Amino acid sequence: MSRKLKAVSLIASALMAVCAATAIAGASPFKVDLELFKFYPSLIVYEKNKAGFTEPETCGGCHEDKYKEWNGSLHSMAFIDPVYQGELNKAVKAVGHEISRQCEGCHSAAGVVTGEIKGPGLSGLSAVAKAGVSCDICHSISALNHDKTPTKEPENGSFVIKPGEDRQDGPVLVKHGPNKPKADCGGGFHECRQTEFHEKADLCASCHQVYHYEKHFPIEATYNEWKHSPYAQKDIHCQDCHMVATDTFVKAADTMVKPERKDYRHYFNGANYLLYYLGAQAAQKAGDKEQSQRLMAQYDMAVKRLQKAAELEIEPVYRKGALAEVRVRVKNMRAGHNLPTSLTNIRQMWLEVIAKDEKGEVVLATGAVGADGTLAEDARLLNSDGMGSDMHFAVDPWIITAFSRHETIPPKGYRDVHYGIAAPKGSARVTIEARLRYRQADQKIAEALLKAVPKDIDLAKDYGLTKIPTLPVVDMVSLKREVPVMK
Ligand code: HEC
Ligand code: HEC
Ligand code: HEC
Ligand code: HEC
Ligand code: HEC
Repeated sequence: MSRKLKAVSLIASALMAVCAATAIAGASPFKVDLELFKFYPSLIVYEKNKAGFTEPETCGGCHEDKYKEWNGSLHSMAFIDPVYQGELNKAVKAVGHEISRQCEGCHSAAGVVTGEIKGPGLSGLSAVAKAGVSCDICHSISALNHDKTPTKEPENGSFVIKPGEDRQDGPVLVKHGPNKPKADCGGGFHECRQTEFHEKADLCASCHQVYHYEKHFPIEATYNEWKHSPYAQKDIHCQDCHMVATDTFVKAADTMVKPERKDYRHYFNGANYLLYYLGAQAAQKAGDKEQSQRLMAQYDMAVKRLQKAAELEIEPVYRKGALAEVRVRVKNMRAGHNLPTSLTNIRQMWLEVIAKDEKGEVVLATGAVGADGTLAEDARLLNSDGMGSDMHFAVDPWIITAFSRHETIPPKGYRDVHYGIAAPKGSARVTIEARLRYRQADQKIAEALLKAVPKDIDLAKDYGLTKIPTLPVVDMVSLKREVPVMK
């Protein structure tokens, strides 16, 4: 293309981007300055310079440990995640390409600001775009920008990203971190600059608050849940639980004392054991044993984290002296936000309760999962149901504009579930067993998402999935209690 033509087409595409942003913004109750927020509905601001983005492998050349830790995290998979790609594909088909900027702003910020990502799928993309939430996203965040939005609260990627600076003798990479830079910081490759938000929840906030692209409903609210919790008041931030090993996180949650400097790791370990497992399968298939082991270590960590999150209590309730009800209390002991959090309308956490009399006869049974992954209709779910403007049940983030049911458990709080029980005749005691169980999604929803992956992801070839397996369920905690039938 000639220079002139290229310039014209650049201007044209910039105009188209602004027009597309205007189309969405026009219908939104959330009015922002579209000159500033050029990637709307993502609120990222890109301070462009010739420095450009660096791939994580290059950072790993000098920061080897951090690279290895990050490489097994969901941040490293945020863009290539087949579940994400499936949903992105559906989003673009339903709403059009404009919405994908919002998604990509959090799942691959570099890919959206450089304009490289043109739609769902992975083929032809650079390593930087595919690296998702990579080193050079978090460490190129130079400022937070939510004070320039109508609500002045972090959300939808409201940060400034600036990989470097243009100087007289050329571009210089500048990386932002929590420490006061020493003289040799950056080893000649980059300069260092100190921020006061890298050690705080503020860094994580804008990506861990997801609002509906147009109607501005908070679909995921992890940061706000944390902000209103006792942890925020005691200065325990996301990093103190998610950038440390399991024992360290448990200690921080129990004592409200921050981990020591030397304890921080780039694990960003969460609860999505399913994706760690799929990633490990893919690494195995690609012949990368070390990476597969790293991902399985993250898998174990995520399962342990879930198993440390909650505790149960069982209390019998008597009426006229006879057992009439069982009350199961679910306590959020160690999640720094609601339990579950984020995609609360997709993640499933529920109680399975079984009560038996002295002869072993079942007198109460609820919350079982069938062999095909179907959860019994009577299961008491502790999560939420999304709905669209038409007040119908919905799961997709471009449709959900409200929750018709929201039953997550606040940090250090609890929720009670009551079950009616008929006092069995001829038995003096009843044994009640309660299990709190968790999985990433309903079986049918997971199947639908994985079936929607773009053509260039081959689940059989890349992940060894010839059919969608029954989703694994984790037992977070269980408790057994024997109670008398008469009081
Ligand atoms: C999701 C955001 C995020 C990503 C992705 C990320 N980091 Fe960090 N990084 C942080 C935070 C937060 C801290 C401060 C936490 C701490 O106290 O160590 C940090 C600290 C650091 C430090 C200073 C650590 C110290 O010991 O003082 C280095 C160096 C670093 N990161 C390099 C990297 C490299 C290299 C990668 C990619 C392989 C990476 N980071 C990916 C958020 C991130
Ligand atoms: C403000 C940042 C942000 C935006 C915008 C965003 N996401 Fe996400 N997304 C996240 C975070 C953070 C998670 C992780 C939540 C968790 O694991 O609990 C996530 C998780 C997901 C998952 C679950 C992945 C899995 O493996 O279980 C899917 C699917 C997804 N996002 C799709 C989308 C689509 C499609 C869009 C655009 C319509 C979108 N996201 C927009 C931040 C964002
Ligand atoms: C040529 C080697 C080299 C490369 C490549 C490199 N760094 Fe560094 N970096 C250093 C050295 C040396 C320090 C100072 C000592 C330390 O903290 O590890 C440093 C420090 C840092 C810090 C710490 C700032 C703080 O607050 O303590 C961050 C963040 C960082 N680098 C991020 C990155 C990122 C992101 C990349 C890739 C874009 C990268 N580095 C690539 C050598 C390098
Ligand atoms: C640029 C956006 C961005 C930033 C900044 C960010 N995250 Fe994330 N984070 C994501 C996305 C997107 C995902 C989901 C990836 C997926 O599931 O496909 C995610 C996933 C996670 C998970 C894994 C969740 C699970 O279900 O296992 C944890 C834990 C997490 N982030 C913690 C943090 C912490 C702590 C910080 C701040 C230090 C942070 N994130 C900063 C975008 C971000
Ligand atoms: C006191 C410890 C603690 C703090 C502080 C904390 N978390 Fe968590 N987080 C947990 C535990 C435990 C889980 C697993 C249970 C769950 O899913 O809620 C978890 C799960 C998650 C998940 C995965 C949710 C899912 O179902 O896939 C994400 C994402 C996450 N945290 C992000 C954050 C962010 C962002 C912050 C800061 C705003 C934060 N966490 C603060 C302990 C903590």
